[in-house]
Order: sequence, then structure tokens, then C-alpha cells
Amino acid sequence: MSFASKLLVDIHTHVYLPRYTALLRSRTSVPFIRTTSTPEGTPEDRLLILDHEPSGGRPVGAQYWDREEKLKFMDKHGIDVSIVSTANPWLDFLPAPQAQALAFELNEDLEQYCSTAPSPTSHKIKRLYGFGLLPLVPEITTSALVDIVHQIGKLPHLRGLIMGTRGIGKGLDDEALDPVWAAIEKAGLVVFLHPHYGVDVNAWGDKDNGHVLPLALGFPFETTTAATRLILSGIFDKFPSLRLLLAHSGGALPVLSSRLASCIDHDPIVASRLKHDARYYLGKLYLDAVAYGPEELGFASDVISRAHRYKTTSSVVKGAADRSIGSKRMLFGTDHPFFPPLSSTEKWKSVTENLEAIEAVQGWNQEDKDAVRGGNAVSLFKLENSDGPEIL
Ligand code: URA
Ligand code: ZN
Repeated sequence: MSFASKLLVDIHTHVYLPRYTALLRSRTSVPFIRTTSTPEGTPEDRLLILDHEPSGGRPVGAQYWDREEKLKFMDKHGIDVSIVSTANPWLDFLPAPQAQALAFELNEDLEQYCSTAPSPTSHKIKRLYGFGLLPLVPEITTSALVDIVHQIGKLPHLRGLIMGTRGIGKGLDDEALDPVWAAIEKAGLVVFLHPHYGVDVNAWGDKDNGHVLPLALGFPFETTTAATRLILSGIFDKFPSLRLLLAHSGGALPVLSSRLASCIDHDPIVASRLKHDARYYLGKLYLDAVAYGPEELGFASDVISRAHRYKTTSSVVKGAADRSIGSKRMLFGTDHPFFPPLSSTEKWKSVTENLEAIEAVQGWNQEDKDAVRGGNAVSLFKLENSDGPEIL
């Protein structure tokens, strides 16, 4: 068993880099950071990023921008390596020229953030890698987007890019984005698809449920819709080597995938559009393991495992799915610095719960669990080079 395959790698962990935080502080409408005071009169920074942000926003502090805090959090939870991404809403709210300039600068900033992080003296692990940013906003040109993909591809610590679901205004199934997907596929970058907008706020009713409904349901429903639209657009037929990582274990897509396949089979507009049964494409996805429960992780890995049965036919091969196959496409994450404990605790429940869930999945052996905790990330993000682990 190699050292690298035993690492704990966090692939879902966010930052607002100082340049981005300064932008949020300079603004007075969503997204922004404002300083208020607590009922006891202590000054407090609050983050307002969602439209209709509940509860006057969320408290925000150094955990969101200070690299020392990220490293302390990693040490506290035994996380060896993090693949850090800018948190939502990225550059979505900016005019095209500003988004383009800022994407370029923030990608350079993130490279610097990662490359200058100290390694522990005991073993020379590179601790930080990153997902870059694309200026996915209306009126941006395709060539500007492709240029930024090339920039990210050349920055040695950036191994992918994070994106929301809006594309350049018409969603991710917009054919205008085809040259961008082609460039991403060619550069071998992993796309981390992450929600921000949720669903129509009217779905939540009048009761004050804080952030629970937008985060627990709205976020994963948004990812479900965006990923399904991508599948329906034939993205994996056009770009078969594209590597797409879905936040929050793919939301509701795993549980709805057979229904999706059936609806396609019965729809005259779509039935002949795709090369494969919809369930086949689930096997092309990577899912983070940010689901907080072993049953959900087990189920999602079953759905990935059975995908190969649908490569050539839509007839179901009988027998239980081999969970091990699916475990090779699931990767540990924390969503740090979101979901901090409400009262001070040694470790964050949002981390320990996800680690315990991985440990408890029925049908995953030791090797499968090690893969989900870090081995899969080492391979997916090429954290090893041919002479052995680059991370050592
Ligand atoms: N809340 C957010 O706004 N973003 C996340 O990534 C997680 C929780
Ligand atoms: Zn997140």
C-alpha cells in the first residue's frame, strides 16, 4: 500500500481570496460583506451572497480568506491535501470585462496561495492545489474563455476549474460553450460543478427556516438540473474524456436516473438524440462524498457501478451492483469554511460526519474507503508524477 493511497484529500473546500474579499467588502448589494454588530454590541462581519439571503446573512471571518486558517483546519482534521476552490458566486455578477480581468488575477493569486504553502517537516507533502475560475458571464467571448482555460492549464498547482450553472446566460447546455468544453477536455482539467442559485424562492413558503431549505434542497436540486441538462445535450458523446465532478454527491440525480432514462425513452424529441441510455452517463461522472450518510454514499456508488451495463443496451442485467466500482468515482470533501459548528468543538461535525459515513458504507472494503478518502483524488488530479508521488 503506497503512502499516497492513504492520504486524506479534501476536494470540496473553499476560499474567498483577499482580492475577492476586498471586492465583496466594497459592495452594498448581494454579493457583499457588511459589518454589523451582535446584540451584545460586538462588531461582526456578515456574508450576504444569496438572493433573498435568510437571517441577515452568515457570520464570516478569517476562515474564509486566511491560508493559515485553512492549514490549521486541515491539521485539526488530519487532512493532508486540499484542492481549494473560490466559493460561490464566483464572478457571475460582474460585467464581462471586469470578470475577465479578475479571473486572470484570481487564478494567479490561487496558484501563489497553493505554491507558497509550507510543507510539514515530517514529510514533504505539497498541501494545496486549486480549481481555477472562468469568467462565465453574459457577453464574454468564447475566445476569452478559452484563453483563461489555457491560463489555468499552465498554472502548475491548478488542476481543474470550478463553475456554477448559468454558463454565459443560457445554462451549461448552450452550444456556444462547445469550444470551452473542448479546451477543458484537451487541457485535462477537472470541472467542479457547484450550485449557488438554488430553486425558485417561492418554493420555500413563509416560515423562517434559516438557510436550511436553500442549502439542503435548493443547492442539490440546482446541480441535479444542470447536470441533467448537460447529459441531455449529449456532452459526454461530444467530449467523452471530459471529467465532471458534481458537488454534494450529485444531488438528486442518482435517485432519479432511471426515471430520467424512462422519460427519455418515451419522448419523441429526445429518444434518438443520445448514444446511450441515460444511466450510462452517470458512470462518466465523479461525485464528491459530501452526503453526510453512509446509505446515501452507498446508493450513489451503486448507481455509478451499474452504469457500464447500459453501454450498449438499455436492458438491465440482473444482480446487485458492485459498489466497489462506484467507489472509484467518489471523493471526500468538507465544504469548509461553510457549516462551522454552532458552539466550539474540537472537530467540525460537518467533517467527522462525512468521514464516519465513508467508514460505514456497507460493501466498501478498506481499499474502496481509502480510495474515497484520498486515493481517487491522487489519481484524478494527477497528484503523482512518473517518479512517484509529486506530493511527497
Ligand atoms: N453555502 C454556500 O453558500 N456555499 C457552499 O459551498 C456551502 C454552503
Ligand atoms: Zn461548496
